[in-house]
Amino acid sequence: MNNMMTQLLGWVDARFPLTKMWKEHLSEYYAPKNFNFWYFFGSLAMLVLVIQIVTGIFLTMSYKPDGALAFGSVEFIMRDVNWGWVIRYAHSTGASAFFAVVYLHMFRGLMYGSYKAPRELLWIFGCLIYLALMAEAFFGYLLPWGQMSYWGAQVIVNLFGAVPFVGEELSIWIRGDYVVSDATLNRFFAFHVIAVPLVLVGLVVAHIIALHEVGSNNPDGIEIKKNKGPDGKPLDGIPFHPYYTVKDIVGVVVFLMIFFAIVFFAPEMGGFFLEHPNFEPADPLKTPAHIAPVWYFTPFYAILRAVPSIAGSAFPGVLAMGAAVVILFFLPWLDRQPVKSIRYRGLCFKVLLFLFVADFIMLGYLGMKPTTDLFKLLAQIGTIYYFVFFIALAIIPKFEKTKPVPERVTE
Ligand code: HEM
Repeated sequence: MNNMMTQLLGWVDARFPLTKMWKEHLSEYYAPKNFNFWYFFGSLAMLVLVIQIVTGIFLTMSYKPDGALAFGSVEFIMRDVNWGWVIRYAHSTGASAFFAVVYLHMFRGLMYGSYKAPRELLWIFGCLIYLALMAEAFFGYLLPWGQMSYWGAQVIVNLFGAVPFVGEELSIWIRGDYVVSDATLNRFFAFHVIAVPLVLVGLVVAHIIALHEVGSNNPDGIEIKKNKGPDGKPLDGIPFHPYYTVKDIVGVVVFLMIFFAIVFFAPEMGGFFLEHPNFEPADPLKTPAHIAPVWYFTPFYAILRAVPSIAGSAFPGVLAMGAAVVILFFLPWLDRQPVKSIRYRGLCFKVLLFLFVADFIMLGYLGMKPTTDLFKLLAQIGTIYYFVFFIALAIIPKFEKTKPVPERVTE
């Protein structure tokens, strides 16, 4: 039996680099030996991507992308399709889980300076993934054709109308109609089930190729490739397989326990994961009292609303919201501090990062709430700090007191 397997493998290897790839990316990919809790989220993001694709395929088998049938087809999935409710709740919970995992993954990058040379392109692929993920979630949210689906899409597509000169035409072109309609639902369906997932998967492959080209950073921010033994292997590295495949399985098990606890016991998450108005069918003649996106978009929604309109045009807010995402791409060139990890950076960096996280959470909260004078002021302060953080990163290295970075990893 063993002999047969070896022969089969030899046959495949002569035609496809299977063993070579296994070695390059797993059994002989040397990762730093000091990975901690924060290094779970990359593999978890891949797991959620798989969950979304698999549950998505099954949902598509019974979903109807038609303004007259969409809402009913989701109810049909929930009530009549065998196990339809688990598939649908796993997909809706997966959307929020995706953003939770990716936000933690990005935060890890900020803490350990993982975006700095030589990982700039890896970071840029990450930012493109984040953009694609936002597009994917936005298109997907229209599909259940509930009140919030409809009016959320209406608000966001109308924002394109704020673009000077071409805005009006642009928003009609996106919708395929003067208001969000059946035509819009059809094209959003096409983007959600095939166009954006293809891009997303392609970008994730590029992200991993870039990572394996330069090697992983680690909580000490040390390049392990600089310290190699006589065998040419990094002294502080261990083979990804079996060490980190086993470690990642622990993360997967804990994650799935939390994930399915939500799917089975709190799929709506008190209106955070599935908003209450979305249990009513879309009605173009009835605007909900308060329109707010799902939690993962609300920090950016707060920025949009915080910036005052000029001559009745919301364009400045739209620009600020766009800039809040685009600025992430420039992080490797804004933060010029050669010390990577937060462990050896000065107090000013720690305070700035702590305030940035608090600010992002505050903006997220404000984006969910109806605007009042106080909330608007807080959102304006939050928006200013959001951008101040990135500018400050460019300035602080000039006077930051960093600690000496050790030669070898510390754990
Ligand atoms: C579908 C979404 C994503 C997937 C599947 C994914 C996957 C991964 C994996 C498997 C790793 C290696 C394991 C780890 O370091 O945790 C990784 C590393 C990394 N990712 Fe992502 N990622 C995603 C999104 C992002 C985003 C949105 C960013 C940033 C904007 C990003 C930035 C990085 C960086 C900088 C590293 C290297 C970290 C280090 O070595 O310290 N990723 N990613």
